[in-house]
Amino acid sequence: LEETTTLNNGVKMPRLGLGVWKTDNTSAKESVKEGIIKGYHLIDTAKQYGNESGVGEGIKEGLAETGMNRKDLFITTKLFNGDQGYQSTLDAVNGTLERLDLTYIDLYLIHWPVDGKYIDTWRAMEKLYHDGKVRAIGVSNFDNERLQNLLDNTNIVPAVNQMEFNPINQEKGIVEFNNHAGIQLEAWSPLGGGEALSNPEIKKIADKYSKSVAQVIIRWDWQKGIVTIPKSSHEKRIIQNSDIFDFKLSDDDIKTIDAIDKAKRSLWYDDFGWHNPEGQVVDAVDKWD
Ligand code: A2P
Repeated sequence: LEETTTLNNGVKMPRLGLGVWKTDNTSAKESVKEGIIKGYHLIDTAKQYGNESGVGEGIKEGLAETGMNRKDLFITTKLFNGDQGYQSTLDAVNGTLERLDLTYIDLYLIHWPVDGKYIDTWRAMEKLYHDGKVRAIGVSNFDNERLQNLLDNTNIVPAVNQMEFNPINQEKGIVEFNNHAGIQLEAWSPLGGGEALSNPEIKKIADKYSKSVAQVIIRWDWQKGIVTIPKSSHEKRIIQNSDIFDFKLSDDDIKTIDAIDKAKRSLWYDDFGWHNPEGQVVDAVDKWD
């Protein structure tokens, strides 16, 4: 769990972390504390999750229990859509730091590409980086077109692009673009919201190694070099999801999982109206304010 990948600005980021999406403050506090005690160094939250203060408390308790220091952890959070724009981004980070009760963030991501705003937003992210409030800056849910636009019009190449990535939705074109641009891909919803967890082909591989389907999926991310942040609110699963270092998938296993891809983003996108019928990301400011 201490193993890291080196981002394009030289900062080291742990390769497996704990996600806390859909987790309220109380539960986030417990998960984060438990996660740190069980060896997780990377914690991934967002203003939009509404649990930054719970995460902050969990960090404090986890550090106290383990005797580790703040610098041993890698904390990611994300800029809320409604805060996009140059000045509002500069202002928003202060609230986030206050809720997390931290003096800096390790990785700050633009949560979604709000069209017409994400370039100005990125310029503010660049300032936060230069000012030392964040150690690395990145994006989330950026398709290749928007990423290219960002690269063409700004100075710093994002360190990370966090995308939905799992056996059901492998975003092969985006993975290729990011690899080529030197942007680390990070998987949100790595377990694929249930459909991947019940996949019979992955189950067969899991049985072969006496591991769970979740462990096989996380190991698949690991071997592909994709940073992954499975979420669980259950202590047993938090432990299980980090127990992936006593087996190795064969090339054939990896090919089998690669072939499961349905290029199918989770329904969740559509439920929240973040895609129009043509599949383009829509400006979600109204929905989140
Ligand atoms: P829970 O929090 O109740 O454990 P993802 O990170 O892909 O979004 O998936 C998270 C979902 O998968 C959550 O609903 C989580 O539920 C569940 N989950 C997490 N770890 C495991 C596991 N090891 N086995 C089965 N389900 C899991």
